[in-house]
Amino acid sequence: MHLKKTVVIKDTLFEEILNYSQIDYRLYELSLQICEDYKDLNPVFISVLNGSFLFSSNLIQKCKIDCEITFVKMKSYVKMSSTGKVVELFGLDTDINGRHVIILEDIVESGLTTNEIIKKIEPLNPKSIFISTLLFKPNKLVYTNLPVKYVGFNILDEFVVGYGLDYDGMGRNLLSIYQLK
Ligand code: IMP
Ligand code: MG
Repeated sequence: MHLKKTVVIKDTLFEEILNYSQIDYRLYELSLQICEDYKDLNPVFISVLNGSFLFSSNLIQKCKIDCEITFVKMKSYVKMSSTGKVVELFGLDTDINGRHVIILEDIVESGLTTNEIIKKIEPLNPKSIFISTLLFKPNKLVYTNLPVKYVGFNILDEFVVGYGLDYDGMGRNLLSIYQLK
C-alpha cells in the first residue's frame, strides 16, 4: 500500500497532493508560455502577498524575458475560511499606465481577492491585465469573468497549505502542497 506523505500543522492533518518537482516542472511550462506571449512586451508582474511569494519567485526566475515585478499585499482569509472582505495591507507603487500586467496569485478560489485587485488597477490604464495563479479551485469560482490565463493546477474544493499558502500563518515554507485530510 502506498501511503501519502502527511504533515500536521496546529493539530490538523494534511496530506501531500503536489510535490516540489511537479510544481517546479509545471512552472517551467507556464514560464515558456508566458515568455512566448510576452516576448518584447516588457510585462509588469504584480505579485499578491503573502501567499504568492514562492510561486512568484520561482516563476519569474524562469521567465527569460525583459520584465518587472512589484508587490501588493491583500488579506481575506482567517484560518480556513474567507471573511468575504478583502483588506489591502499595502498597495501598488509602480506606474502601470500603458503596461501589460500579469497578476500572480497563489490561489483563486471565489475570485473575490483577484476581482478587488483588478478593480483597483483597471483605472490606472494598463494595456492588458491577465492572471497567473498557481492553484485554481474551479468549483468555487464566483467571479466568472476574471481573466485567468495561466493556471498551475486545478484542484478540488479542499483547503490546501504549503508552497506559500498558510494555515493560520503556518506552513508557507513547505515545498509541497498539502490538502486537508
Ligand atoms: P478568493 O478571494 O476566494 O479567490 O481566495 C483567494 C485568497 O484566499 C487566496 O489568495 C489565499 O490567500 C486564500 N485562500 C483561498 N483558498 C485557500 C486555501 O485552500 N488555502 C490557503 N489559502 C487559501
Ligand atoms: Mg493570495
